[in-house]
This record gives sequence, C-alpha cells and structure tokens, in this order.
Amino acid sequence: MANAIILLVAALAISTVSAGNSRTLLQPPQTRTVTQTAQATPDLSTLVAALTKAGLADTLNDPNLVATVFAPTNEAFVKLEKNLGYTQEQLLNSAILKPTLQYHVVPKVAAQSASLTDNQKLATLLPGQELTVYLNGPQVIISGVQTAANVTQANIVASKAIVHVIDAVLLPAQYALNGAPAPAPMMMSGAMGSAMAPMMG
Ligand SMILES: *[C@@H]1O[C@H](CO)[C@@H](O)[C@H](O)[C@H]1NC(C)=O
Repeated sequence: MANAIILLVAALAISTVSAGNSRTLLQPPQTRTVTQTAQATPDLSTLVAALTKAGLADTLNDPNLVATVFAPTNEAFVKLEKNLGYTQEQLLNSAILKPTLQYHVVPKVAAQSASLTDNQKLATLLPGQELTVYLNGPQVIISGVQTAANVTQANIVASKAIVHVIDAVLLPAQYALNGAPAPAPMMMSGAMGSAMAPMMG
C-alpha cells in the first residue's frame, strides 16, 4: 500500500512537470525570445548551434531585448561553408563565428520590414559595422560588405525583437579563419545583381 502511494505521488509529480513543460512550449509564438524562436524553427538549427557556440544564445534569450535579428537558414550556412572551404565543425569553431553573428543583430530597434527604407544603414552589434537595406519591389535585400541576402521570411515577432529569415550569411569586413586569407569579396551577381542594377544605377 505504502509503495502504491509512493508510486502514485511519483506519477503525479512527473505529470505535473510535463504539464509545465508543455505549457512553456505552447506559449504564444510571439512571446518567445529570439533564441526560443530559432529553437522552434527547424530551418534555423545551425543558427542555434552557432549562437550557442559563440556564447550569444543567452544574449538573444532576453525577453526584453529590443533588436532586429537577421537569421540565416541552415542552407545559408552550408553555402558559407562551401564558399570558405570549411566544414560546419570548422565554422562553428572559427574566430569569425562570433563577429559574424553579431553582424546579424541590429540592437535597439525592432524593425518590421515595412519600416525599412532603401539604402538605409543599420548599425549592428559588431562595433563600427553596418548593414545596408535595399528594396527591390517587395523584396528586401540586406547587404553586408561582402555578401548580400534576401529576406525570405519577414517579421517574426520574438518578444520585443523582430526576426527576419535570410538566405545567406552576412560576413563582416574583418575576419580570418584559422589564419586563412579572407576570400575575395563576393560581388552580387546573376538575377539579383541585374535586378539591383537600376537602383544602384
Ligand atoms: C536572392 O534572390 C535573387 C532573386 O530571386 C536570387 O537571384 C539570389 O540568388 C538570392 N540571393 C541568395 C543569396 O540566395
């Protein structure tokens, strides 16, 4: 009898804990932090690994963080790794990881895409380094010094921050991967380059 009661109490305790967990998971998506939003998005799992590795997951887990965060997809990270000739492991352990991620965070402003303007400069968490916004009709392009990305999913509310999913990783100006020379700046080419030509005319 005593054993049965102990088992019952244990079972209740376990179900209470799992009810608590599922409440957390079922909280309205827009109240999630940036980190929780990324964690809840399968296509941002490399970003989550990168933020964790760079020690930025906690910074972006602050529910009071006001920021605009550009979130590269898993495929974007694969493209970067190919361009640099690194494995994901090497990228996650490289010195450029943290500055590169900081370059994707615009502090103090949670900007919906509709509030972005053509040629707007956005100061990032990386001191002295800005991103530039280009608008091509409905398409929002975020350009760094070496790479440009399309916003592929805009305006994900993440507590007091806004997340925009992008299809390329934006590289800051200064970085050296294991002492390797920086690759030549990647110029915008192809469809996007010609689409932008009139604007940049
Ligand atoms: C952005 O979109 C344009 C037009 O669809 C495309 O040509 C370009 O490759 C995209 N950029 C990236 C980084 O995927």
